[in-house]
Amino acid sequence: MDASKRDIQQVQKTIASAHKDCSLTQKMQFYNHWAHDYEEDVSILDYNAPRLAAVALASMYPSNHEEKLVLDIACGTGLVAQELQRCGFKLFHGVDGSEGMIQVAGGKKLYKELKKCMLGHEPLPSPSDYYDAVIIVGALSDGQVPSFVIPELIRVAKPGGFVCLTTRCNPSNLHYKAQLDQELSVLQNKGLWECITVQNVEKWERAISEHEAQKESDYISGVIYLYKKSEAFPCTD
Ligand SMILES: C[S@@+](CC[C@H](N)C(=O)[O-])C[C@H]1O[C@@H](n2cnc3c(N)ncnc32)[C@H](O)[C@@H]1O
Repeated sequence: MDASKRDIQQVQKTIASAHKDCSLTQKMQFYNHWAHDYEEDVSILDYNAPRLAAVALASMYPSNHEEKLVLDIACGTGLVAQELQRCGFKLFHGVDGSEGMIQVAGGKKLYKELKKCMLGHEPLPSPSDYYDAVIIVGALSDGQVPSFVIPELIRVAKPGGFVCLTTRCNPSNLHYKAQLDQELSVLQNKGLWECITVQNVEKWERAISEHEAQKESDYISGVIYLYKKSEAFPCTD
C-alpha cells in the first residue's frame, strides 16, 4: 500500500493487530512488515514519545551531550536517536528484536553499532557499566519488552549513568504499568538506582479506539521515568 494514502483508521487497525496475543516470531514478523510504514503511521498517531523522552534525558546534562554514549533499546526505525541528535547527542548504539526495523534504522547512519536482541529471551549484547545513558521508548508494554528486563538496563549503564523509560497509561496497559512500577521501586529499594523524575504526559499519542482514549480526549496518556544508577553498585562482570 502507498504509505501516503494511509489514514487513521488503517493505522488503528494495524496497531490493534500488534496488540493481539501471538508468538514472539509472529510479533517480530509484524514489526518486520510494519518497519516500512512505521514512521508514516506514528506521525498520523501524533506519537510524541521519542521527542519528549529525548528532551527529558537531555535535561539531565548541563553540557557535553555530544560526548555521552547512549544505548537506544528497542530502537525501531531510529526516531529516538534522531530526537536525541536534535538535543545535541551524537553517539548512539541501538538494539531491537526486528531485523526489518534495524534495517530502516541502519539506513539513517545514526548508530555506531546496531544489534539484534530479543529482550526477555537473551541478555543485552553489551558489557556491564558501559553506557552514559540507556533509553527505551515505546516498547515497555504487554507483548513487547517484559518488565523483568529492567535489571539488564541498569547493568549496562555506567555507575551514575541515567536510564530513561517510557510506558503508556491507556486502560489495556494499566496491568503492565502496575508491574513495571513495582519492579522500578523494588530496584530502588535494593539501592541499584534512584528515581529522578516521573513525568506524566497527557497527549502521548492518539488512541486506537474509543475505549482506550481518555475522557473528552482522542489521546492516551503516558509517562516518562528518569532514573540514575547508583555509584555504589557497579555491575562489573
Ligand atoms: C513501537 S516500536 C518503538 C520504536 C522506537 N523506540 C520508537 O519509539 O519509535 C517498538 C519496538 O520494540 C521492538 N521490540 C518489541 N518487543 C521487543 C523485544 N522483546 N525485544 C527487542 N525488541 C522488541 C520492536 O521490534 C519495535 O521496533
